[in-house]
Amino acid sequence: MSAVGGARDPLLARRAGRLIEEDVSFRTKMLEIAAGLDDVIAMGRGDPDFHTPAHIVEAAKRAIDANEHHYTHPAGIPQLREAIADTLSREYGLRYDLDEVIVTAGVQESITLCMLALIEPGDEVLITSPRFTTYDQAVHAFGGVPVPVPTFESDDFALMPSEIEARLTERTKVLVLVSPNNPTGAVTPPDVIRQIAELAIRHDLIVISDEIYASLIYEGAEHLSIAAVDGMRERTIVLNGFSKSYAMTGWRVGYMAAPKAFTRMLIDPRHMLSINAATPSQFAALAALTGPQDALVAMRDAYAERRAFLMQAMDGLGLTYGFPGGAFYLYTNTSGTGMLSPAFCETLLREGRVLLFPGSLFGDDSDLYTRMSYLQPLPRIEEAMDRFAGVVERHRGG
Ligand SMILES: Cc1ncc(COP(=O)(O)O)c(C=O)c1O
Repeated sequence: MSAVGGARDPLLARRAGRLIEEDVSFRTKMLEIAAGLDDVIAMGRGDPDFHTPAHIVEAAKRAIDANEHHYTHPAGIPQLREAIADTLSREYGLRYDLDEVIVTAGVQESITLCMLALIEPGDEVLITSPRFTTYDQAVHAFGGVPVPVPTFESDDFALMPSEIEARLTERTKVLVLVSPNNPTGAVTPPDVIRQIAELAIRHDLIVISDEIYASLIYEGAEHLSIAAVDGMRERTIVLNGFSKSYAMTGWRVGYMAAPKAFTRMLIDPRHMLSINAATPSQFAALAALTGPQDALVAMRDAYAERRAFLMQAMDGLGLTYGFPGGAFYLYTNTSGTGMLSPAFCETLLREGRVLLFPGSLFGDDSDLYTRMSYLQPLPRIEEAMDRFAGVVERHRGG
């Protein structure tokens, strides 16, 4: 291999400055260790263990058989946009017209589109943290500055207005509100959402409200879309999708909803990114919204049972966590094991063959926390927690 910038690495030498070298080595190292072990119980990724419900798969097959093989309108097929608008109205009290909805290749593409549309070099973007770090990458890509807004276990990881306020500057343009959040499962309560709305209006902030986990809310928590608060619709972009609620990660469908004057301007950039979300996938998404919802409810019930089990297991070990009101993650303070979270995760993997990810992969530098996703059948989670307890006890005793 030649040195960086050498004649034999012309691509590397001439790459754009916006490409930042990220330290992915820990994740890679964990996956490599896992690959060399048998019978690893993987509770690291945020990908449901359930298959996509059969009627959704059937709808995609029918679309393929009906020759739905072509480009669609860049914003998506009208039937799907209509169904999304209906769902937003029914579930969250949000009123959007069909032309205020843009279907994208997952929420991931909506995030890129939002930043492309809003960020100028030097603009600061406040992001609920610990966080889904795609936001950092997208902000960076357009020359913006990601500004993490920390959340704390003592607040059950809800986003606190005082933490937002403390980070406001002349350059602050956007607040990314993620509730329920990844990796904490935290749901920011409705009264706090109203305070954040008041603050956003007072400081003229744009809010990107990522609600991809909003249909996975458990007892003890309540979701309020900030776009439904008076005065917020005009300054909010709502993101939501199908990956998490309908176990459709691989289909790549998500969407954004925002006032018409803005969405009209996004049609061309949306076309530039990928023209449209894959056509058969859009028909699958349509079936997800318009078909029976029992599968969604059954998956949510299963997650609720697993979540209760995990909380009990952590309580039994004396490890604390923030109340996980939604999503499918438990964010546990594993410092009670006597190890910082990266060391704990590595030990747990090598000795217990359970794969979890430390908070550092979610922008949390404290090294106190570990994310567990409960996306394995309950008996496997029970087995994982037996192994977990064995490792913890051995090391605490040692
Ligand atoms: C908060 C959050 N937003 C967006 C996404 C991306 O989801 P999609 O599969 O719809 O692109 C994820 C995926 O983990 C997520 O956790």
